[in-house]
Amino acid sequence: MNKVQNIKIGLLGCGTVGQGVYNLLQMNRDKYQPVLNNTNLEITKILVNDINKKRPNIPQELLTTDPDEILNDENIDIIIEVIGGTTKAQDYIKKALLNGKHIVTANKDLMAINAQELLDLGNKAGRQIRYEASVAGAIPIISTIKENILSNKITKVMGIINGTTNFILTKMFNEDRDLKDVLKEAQELGYAEADPTSDIEGLDAARKIAVLASIAFNRSVVLNDVYVEGITAISVDDVNYAKLFNSTIKLLGIAVNNEQGIEVRVHPTLLPMSHPLAKVDDVYNAIYIEGNAFGDLTLIGKGAGSLPTASAVVADLLSIVKDMNRNIFSYENRSCYLDTEIMEIEDTLTHFYIRMIVLDRTRVLSKITEAFADNDVSIDSVIQKKLENNLAELVILTDKVLNKNMMNAKVQIENLEVVKEIKSLIRSEKEY
Ligand code: NAP
Ligand code: HSE
Repeated sequence: MNKVQNIKIGLLGCGTVGQGVYNLLQMNRDKYQPVLNNTNLEITKILVNDINKKRPNIPQELLTTDPDEILNDENIDIIIEVIGGTTKAQDYIKKALLNGKHIVTANKDLMAINAQELLDLGNKAGRQIRYEASVAGAIPIISTIKENILSNKITKVMGIINGTTNFILTKMFNEDRDLKDVLKEAQELGYAEADPTSDIEGLDAARKIAVLASIAFNRSVVLNDVYVEGITAISVDDVNYAKLFNSTIKLLGIAVNNEQGIEVRVHPTLLPMSHPLAKVDDVYNAIYIEGNAFGDLTLIGKGAGSLPTASAVVADLLSIVKDMNRNIFSYENRSCYLDTEIMEIEDTLTHFYIRMIVLDRTRVLSKITEAFADNDVSIDSVIQKKLENNLAELVILTDKVLNKNMMNAKVQIENLEVVKEIKSLIRSEKEY
């Protein structure tokens, strides 16, 4: 056996993920040392805001509130950034790279807005930046795309990449409860972010799909490139109509590589129960990928939580240490070398579900179908339910149509005097 060598690690942040990382390194120490050619991994300093906060298992003497004690420490080889946020996290990562340290981060907010600058800086510094935990927690999706299915051209990545909204939509589907009521439960269980807006308005999922699209299509995609719609307009009525179409509703991050360009969007989606993502429930995340050799594959797992997220962070750490042991310091951090067009949402093609309240009398349906026909929107199926006061509820599924045409049809329908209100308009993934 070789002599034991020590790799020193600086941990920035010791909250949910940071404590998970510390605990996992203790828990599986006996596995890591032999697989790393007798290398011992040691967290030597930990940056926090509040040094007096109670942190079970974490030795108090490792804590500091001075980032420079870690970033300027010549003995530290690798920095794990799990403080979150964009400003300080970015400053610390840049400084660490310039000081010759490798980086592991779980920071989706930062990687969704400035990955390319950081990855380039890493390349220039000859140091690695790994960020597996930034998307879908424990699911090894970044390394799968970067390495395991590199042999393919990826055409589509589609995922349930926000646990909070999956929990909410699952409860709405299974228990007939409304969104506000379930959101409260998600917050009490600690699934939602402190401010749940980024979960339910789709921003959290948008950050993650931007990261995945960049890696899958070798084209830098940032948060601003993503079309985003959250789930706040989804009602139990929509979920119940979805059941009648043998479907469910999920908030999906969808990235498609078309001949006309790349489309990257996040929105509630009507999904047939036969789709592999349809039965992924509660806080679970899942990602479905299509490639030109493997066909399709789906990865399912825990998208958040202390140890599940630490699982991805520590795996990145081990990969870096394995490379260091083979004297490989640099890593092709950046894989975005194309400048493929990013499509506007109005130019994309999707199926739609539309629900509206209409007058219950003759010629109503013909006026509505005329408005669709005027805008080249073809109808797939229709359900009509009688309501009180001479009203009816009409739910229509369309064929795959140009989004621009559907929006024009919606305006025309809204202006019909026989239509009282359009209650919802949801995209649908019928073909896969
Ligand atoms: P968290 O529980 O809020 O922990 C953040 C930690 O960073 C705390 O220990 C805090 O110190 C410290 N910190 C924050 N700002 C600091 C600053 N300016 N200077 C010094 N210390 C600072 O957050 P988390 O849930 O662990 O998330 C960390 C990162 O992982 C985020 O980027 C998040 O998006 C990502 N992530 C989280 C999950 C998850 O399940 N939680 C999943 C995937 C990815 P104090 O403890 O003293 O306040
Ligand atoms: N709030 C996020 C979620 C945490 O619900 O998925 C993990 O990024």
